[in-house]
Parts: sequence; structure tokens; C-alpha cells
Amino acid sequence: MKVASIVGARPQFIKAAPLDRELRKLHNHLLIHSGQHYDYAMSAVFFEQLGIPEPDYNLGVGSASHGRQTGEMLIRIEETLSQEKPDCVLVYGDTNSTLAGALAAAKLHLPLAHVEAGLRSFNRRMPEETNRVLTDHMADLLFCPTETARHNLAREGITEGVFNLGDVMYDAVLHSSDIVDRKSRILSSLHLQPRSYLLVTIHRPGNTDDPQSLSNILAALGEVDEKIIFPAHPRTSQAIAQIGYQLPSTVKLLEPVSYLEMLALERNARLILTDSGGVQKEAYFFGVPCVTLREETEWVETTDTGWNLLVGASKPRIIRAVQEFRPQGERPQIFGDGKASQKIAQHLASIARS
Ligand code: UD1
Ligand code: UDP
Repeated sequence: MKVASIVGARPQFIKAAPLDRELRKLHNHLLIHSGQHYDYAMSAVFFEQLGIPEPDYNLGVGSASHGRQTGEMLIRIEETLSQEKPDCVLVYGDTNSTLAGALAAAKLHLPLAHVEAGLRSFNRRMPEETNRVLTDHMADLLFCPTETARHNLAREGITEGVFNLGDVMYDAVLHSSDIVDRKSRILSSLHLQPRSYLLVTIHRPGNTDDPQSLSNILAALGEVDEKIIFPAHPRTSQAIAQIGYQLPSTVKLLEPVSYLEMLALERNARLILTDSGGVQKEAYFFGVPCVTLREETEWVETTDTGWNLLVGASKPRIIRAVQEFRPQGERPQIFGDGKASQKIAQHLASIARS
């Protein structure tokens, strides 16, 4: 079976890595990179470090407004899929690359599978929410990472072609966790002792593009009396520069780090503050307390089990959480058994045979 994966943004390279390994055992796997992310630290580093083959196509779309970026992707993905005629198109997560890939496949009547289907924040101001809802309603196969995701789909009337086979990001972490300490020198190069620092990531437009929210978060970080490591998404470093905020010396602002460096930083942090979906889950996998700089989360299991606390962009709530949040409860295995990618690849093979 010829399976085409459409990727474009950092978390999609990470999700595609374990799937690529499994898909290549059973299928012809074609990788199409939209070009949504293009800096070395946002794209190529993940291909090199995770052993993902060079994409068969890089469509070089780059950054633009939502409409222009998604529209350009749609045009170029449609051309590529029309030439390649895959038997199945895989899209991942909830970015503009996901939506463009899904639309192109659906209009060409190519079977469409959505990896990480069924997630909902119920906040339509997030661009990701529109991307997810539309993609799920176009998909023929919906691979949910959790039971909550499956329930969300059922509420919208989507019950056919829905499978909870686990979360491919859990597969990715398990695959890399043995080599993290051997391959990553980031702790020693930053002179960090385990549990002696907080790790921060921010990139949601609701936080970066609203100067008041961004200033609140940065002010809270400045008042916390602990060392803070802050690998910044390019959107975030640009926004910080734009508002001219001077961070105190306790906050170490870094370029985006590689996946193995990120896992090392996460695993050894005392606490993580983030608005990233992937980072919230990784904190849970590692049993590191997570404070989420949003008012809602798609990964409700992490808050229900007490390991993730939502504080929005409120300075007093952030500071209080850093001082007081000390989860200790159980961390049930909600995200599958680490074999989601294998099961998805096998599932596609069984469909091809039937
Ligand atoms: C995108 C996804 C978001 C995902 C995130 C992962 C959408 C709508 N959003 O957000 O769901 O969580 O990726 O990281 O698809 N930039 C660079 N270099 C790059 C890439 C981006 O400098 O390699 C800068 C550009 O100024 C660009 C901005 O970052 O305008 C935002 O990039 P974009 O891909 O539009 O959205 P993200 O914030 O990365
Ligand atoms: N990540 C990384 N380097 C960084 C920040 C994040 O490798 O500097 C990884 C992180 O470990 C996770 C993924 O990128 O696997 C999350 O991506 P991101 O936060 O960009 O997007 P989201 O998950 O919110 O869509």
C-alpha cells in the first residue's frame, strides 16, 4: 500500500517518526513536508536526530497569514497527491498543514486517516480547534489517542472508522528515553542539576500575540525565585523582542532545542510551565508537575489525575502554582502501551487486504 504522510510543523515530525519506522515495514511510505516550519531548529534537526528519511517532497510554503498559508499548501499538496496517487493519506494533529492535507485528500477522494483525532479544547478562537474539527469530519479513519477523544467524536456523530490505538507521542518518548541521557549534554552544558530548575515553553497566539498576556507571564517568571530554562519558539522570541521585555538573569532564554535535549530538560525539571499540547503530555509521561498557561486543555486526563494545573496567563495564579503545586497521585497509563504506531500501520495493512 502506498501511504502518504503530510507533515509541516515541529510536533508533526515527532509524531511521524515512530509511524515512519512502522509504516516502512509494511507499506511504501511517502513523506510530504509542507514547509510550514523551515528553520533548522524547527525542522531539519528532528529529521536528523530521529532518523526520519529526507521528505520525498518539501513544498516550501513557509510563514504567512492563516488563509494564505493554508491556501498555498492546499494548491501544492493537491498537485503532489494528484501525481503520486497514494492509497491512503495520513495527517497528524491540528496545524494548518493538517487541514490543508485533509482538504486536498478529501477533494481528490483519497482515503484519509487522521492521527490524533478527536481532541477538543471547545475554544473556537484557537486556530487548531477549527483545523481539528474540520479534519475529523473529513476523515475516513480516525486514530484517537485517548478515550476522551473517542467520546468527543461520538458527541459529534462520528462513530465509524474510529479507533483508540494509543498515542504516537508516547511511542516516540519510549523509543528515545533510553538514549536521552547518553546523547544529550544539555544539562551539563547549562550547569543544571536535576530538579533544580523550571522549564518553560510558550507559543500559543493567545499568549504570544496579546502583549498583556505575554507581559503577565513574563512578569510572573521574573518574580519566581528559581532558575528558569526557556527554549523559545521563534514566534515567542519575536514577540518578546517586540514588546521590549527585559527578562531577569534567572530566566535563560534559548533557541528552540532538539527533541532529545527537550526530553532531557523535561525529565529533569522540577516543574514545567507550558502552553504546548505535546509538552503537557510529556510532563505526564515523566511524572513532572505541569502548570499549563491556558484556561483549557485537550488533554483533560492530565488535569483529572491531578498532574496538570490550568492557570491561564494570570500572574498571581502562575506564581502561586509554582510555589504550591506538588502533585503526588497515581499516573494511570492513559496514552496506550507504546505500540500505537505499530497498530496503526497494521490496521492500514488489514484494510488494504480486505
Ligand atoms: C504552529 C501550529 C500550532 C503548533 C505549532 C507547533 C497552526 C495554525 N499552528 O504554530 O498548532 O502548536 O506550530 O510548534 O498551524 N517561524 C519561524 N521559523 C519557522 C517557523 C515559524 O521563524 O521555522 C515564525 C514565523 O514568524 C511565523 C511564526 O513563527 O510567522 C508562526 O509560525 P506558524 O507555523 O504560522 O505557527 P506556529 O506558531 O509555529
Ligand atoms: N519540543 C522540542 N524542542 C523545543 C520545544 C518543544 O523538541 O524547543 C518538542 C516537545 O518535546 C514536543 C513537541 O516539540 O515533543 C511539542 O511541539 P510544540 O510545543 O511546538 O507544539 P504543540 O505540541 O503545542 O502542537
